[in-house]
Amino acid sequence: MVVLALALLASAAVVRATPIEKSQKQLPLVIWHGLGDTYDSEGITSVGELANETNPGTFVHSVYLDEDPSSDRSASFFGLVNTQLATVCDQLASIPELAGGFNAIGFSQGGQFLRGYVERCNNPPVRTLLTFGAQHNGIADFLGECKPTDFVCKSASSLLRSSKWTPWVQNKVVPAQYFRDPEDLGPYLEKSAFLADINNERDGERNETYRENLAGLERFVMIMFDEDLTVVPKESAWFAEVNRTSGEITLLENRDIYKEDWIGLKSLGTKGKLEYLTIPGRHMELSDEGLKALFKTYLGPGGRLNTEDQHSGGEL
Ligand SMILES: *[C@@H]1O[C@H](CO)[C@@H](O)[C@H](O)[C@H]1NC(C)=O
Ligand SMILES: *[C@@H]1O[C@H](CO)[C@@H](O)[C@H](O)[C@H]1NC(C)=O
Ligand SMILES: *[C@@H]1O[C@H](CO)[C@@H](O)[C@H](O)[C@H]1NC(C)=O
Repeated sequence: MVVLALALLASAAVVRATPIEKSQKQLPLVIWHGLGDTYDSEGITSVGELANETNPGTFVHSVYLDEDPSSDRSASFFGLVNTQLATVCDQLASIPELAGGFNAIGFSQGGQFLRGYVERCNNPPVRTLLTFGAQHNGIADFLGECKPTDFVCKSASSLLRSSKWTPWVQNKVVPAQYFRDPEDLGPYLEKSAFLADINNERDGERNETYRENLAGLERFVMIMFDEDLTVVPKESAWFAEVNRTSGEITLLENRDIYKEDWIGLKSLGTKGKLEYLTIPGRHMELSDEGLKALFKTYLGPGGRLNTEDQHSGGEL
């Protein structure tokens, strides 16, 4: 009898370990790069390889706004984010491998853009969203340093400082579309072309679809770099608000966007699906080991899922 039981266990284990079944369970991964990067850069490519190495069988797609790398980089500085996002919605919907849903990683501004994808399109749907050093609550200053010869970066930077609320800049300079100074919310609420909308901050114009879509994530992991000097304030990665005069930090849970659940964050939070992580280093200083650990925990088959989540994962 003992022998029989062992044999049964062994065959069950064999069935479970079949590579085909495992690869079916491994969700694809979509990566959206940050400002000044390109979809096929060495860094982005190696992140995809690392994800595949950590969770074998991971199909990886890197979001692009132009197949030409240099134009793709320019599009990270210049363009109308709403239009760019619509392009990405079409792009992701056209990739057969993503049809059953996917996990997503957004680096820096790619983080809030992927969140925008979830809120506005989400077809196919994102399961787990990881954002690294994103500007979910905007930037109150633009400190990103440009190399002396980087004219694309320098012209974006000077336009942002001089005339951020003019329609021309809001329609053309990407970081202006997530500029948000808590001391000067009036022009932001009136003119922000992107962030005020996806954060559902406009009274009477809150889009219910945004809330439902984001609340439908299996997990939303917000990662902050503890020594981030590029994102001002760095706590924007956690949707926190910082008073730069007093230094006071208002955590997401104490803000109206959460308390009144404008975009579904409270729905996620009360189900334990919203996580705040800190990783050491400056903006986008990522170690392979750190990434692997995160990929294993959050993107692996069944990784970090409770029983209820596994049911929804099983619909694939
Ligand atoms: C993932 O790894 C497998 C096995 O090494 C390889 O065949 C495949 O091309 C890789 N896919 C990606 C997207 O890197
Ligand atoms: C809300 O957002 C959805 C998805 O982007 C869109 O289809 C819909 O028109 C929006 N509703 C309003 C009232 O703007
Ligand atoms: C920030 O703190 C200063 C000093 O305490 C205060 O005067 C100001 O009203 C605060 N700003 C906001 C937006 O709460």
